[in-house]
Amino acid sequence: MALENLRAYKVCYLLPMPILQPSSSVSSLPRISCVVTRKWRCWRMGQSQPTHTRKKNSMQLPRAAAAAVDIEPQNASTSNSNVLLEVKGLTAVVTESRQEILKGIDLIIHQGEVHAIMGKNGSGKSTFSKVLVGHPDYEVTGGTVIFKGENLLDKEPEVRCHSGLFMSFQSPVEIPGVSNMDFLRMACNARRSTLGLTELGPLEFYGFLSPKLAMLNMDPKFLDRNVNEGFSGGEKKRNEILQLAVLEADLAILDEIDSGLDVDALQDVAKAVNGLLTTKNAVLMITHYQRLLDSIKPTYVHIMENGRIVKTGNASLAKQLEEGGYRAIADV
Ligand SMILES: Nc1ncnc2c1ncn2[C@@H]1O[C@H](COP(=O)(O)OP(=O)(O)OP(=O)(O)O)[C@@H](O)[C@H]1O
Ligand SMILES: [Mg+2]
Repeated sequence: MALENLRAYKVCYLLPMPILQPSSSVSSLPRISCVVTRKWRCWRMGQSQPTHTRKKNSMQLPRAAAAAVDIEPQNASTSNSNVLLEVKGLTAVVTESRQEILKGIDLIIHQGEVHAIMGKNGSGKSTFSKVLVGHPDYEVTGGTVIFKGENLLDKEPEVRCHSGLFMSFQSPVEIPGVSNMDFLRMACNARRSTLGLTELGPLEFYGFLSPKLAMLNMDPKFLDRNVNEGFSGGEKKRNEILQLAVLEADLAILDEIDSGLDVDALQDVAKAVNGLLTTKNAVLMITHYQRLLDSIKPTYVHIMENGRIVKTGNASLAKQLEEGGYRAIADV
């Protein structure tokens, strides 16, 4: 069920709601809907409310996270005008088991910044990203998340995406029966319509896509294949960045985008991400390794431990980690 949830999540997350409605006249509906589990469709069509978006959560007072985290969010004293994301005291549990994973996260990301989150396996990095994009496996139990001045936790997953929040998965899912090209174009048009832009037809879209493919050194033949189906690990990661390039997100969350990439692919992906960075957007990348940070320079490096950000520094923190392991930074 976990994989099905994730697959359905990716489809629902990137595509507009009407495509998922049985009454939709969109011709690609049968192919799209076949990969969306019945459970998920019921869930998304309002027959039951996702727990993580219940108003109750957004009304809860932020937990006194400062007491639990031994660092202040960086740039706390700078102007709020260019804040993209502000997370305060975020706590979350696994929806089914009620196990608490996030235990009070504080993080502020401004436009133009690159943040890296590092941390031991199982410290909660992926959970944090998935909670931000509204994954139903998790329920927010406290804290606040403001994205571009609005309460993110109240929004449906696809609204979060179309308003400019993108996440590339640590393990990208295959979506059988859905062509990569159709998927990218529908996702792109959903975002464009949110921005008040005209939708792109197939030919126009191909013109829009071509330079992005070239930037990633991706063969156009990947467009004719089903989303990630049979792709190698590295090809899947490139495809995630292609989705990001198409969506032109304001905040990109990249969960271990470097894992499974060969040296050349890492350079292609890093070049593409650097090429997408502007003074208006930002990147939050999760990684275990310094090598990614050599190519995509972080403004801040955070260390996550047991569901909290316990240390924040600059790129030198990652270097210390690389050289001496987590023990080396424990007392810094
Ligand atoms: N859906 C879930 N059901 C049960 N446990 C979960 C679930 N999601 C996360 N966890 C648990 O929460 C903890 C944090 O997981 P998470 O995937 O966020 O770690 P991570 O920091 O991304 O680790 P890694 O570096 O290995 O990717 C782990 O112990 C994991 O088993
Ligand atoms: Mg992870």
